[in-house]
Amino acid sequence: MTKITVGKVKTVFTTSEPDEVLIQYEDRVTAGNGKKELWVEDKGRVCMNISSLLFQYLERYGISTHYLNSIPERIMTCKKVDIIPIEVVVRNVATGSIVRQTTLEEGRIFNWPLVEYYLKDDEKDDPLLTEDRIRLMGDYPLRDMEQTAREVNGILSKIFREIGLTLVDFKLEFGYDSKQNLLLADELSPD
Ligand SMILES: Nc1ncnc2c1ncn2[C@@H]1O[C@H](COP(=O)(O)OP(=O)(O)O)[C@@H](O)[C@H]1O
Ligand SMILES: [Mg+2]
Repeated sequence: MTKITVGKVKTVFTTSEPDEVLIQYEDRVTAGNGKKELWVEDKGRVCMNISSLLFQYLERYGISTHYLNSIPERIMTCKKVDIIPIEVVVRNVATGSIVRQTTLEEGRIFNWPLVEYYLKDDEKDDPLLTEDRIRLMGDYPLRDMEQTAREVNGILSKIFREIGLTLVDFKLEFGYDSKQNLLLADELSPD
């Protein structure tokens, strides 16, 4: 096993299978794009288990994800993907940066959920992108990512509602596997 990426909260390893990776969830918590950090015992295991459950749940609803398997306590086997450097954010309720940056009031409910794109680049502080900027950056499957993000939102909002939780907002990452399939990747957790 060779480390291929040491991220803020996860470490990615190669395996004997060239199309697969092992993703180890660490006990690290970060905020402000890595500027603040904290170590919380068991956090990696909890986030791995929640991600694993949610990826399996989404697969059952026909969403293509990178998830293959999980290994106790905090390792996930996934299809290796080339991550698209665009974070797709879905918002059902206004809070956080959208409230700071606009005139929208905290708690405003979006009947038509908002789908936004941010550059995945901590050094640039993950800026909000426009569709025109993305078009200039390259040929990215924006409409497919948007549609999948809306489907994921519908599926997850329903199961969260059933257990008494409101899905306020979340971030998705996508990537292409070796056969050029677009897959939902990274992590689905309250991290
Ligand atoms: N299936 C995958 N194949 C390859 N890389 C992946 C896969 N899923 C997630 N990644 C990448 O692994 C890296 C490690 O995760 P993380 O610690 O969250 O990093 P970051 O600091 O970039 O947020 C991220 O760059 C993420 O995009
Ligand atoms: Mg990350």
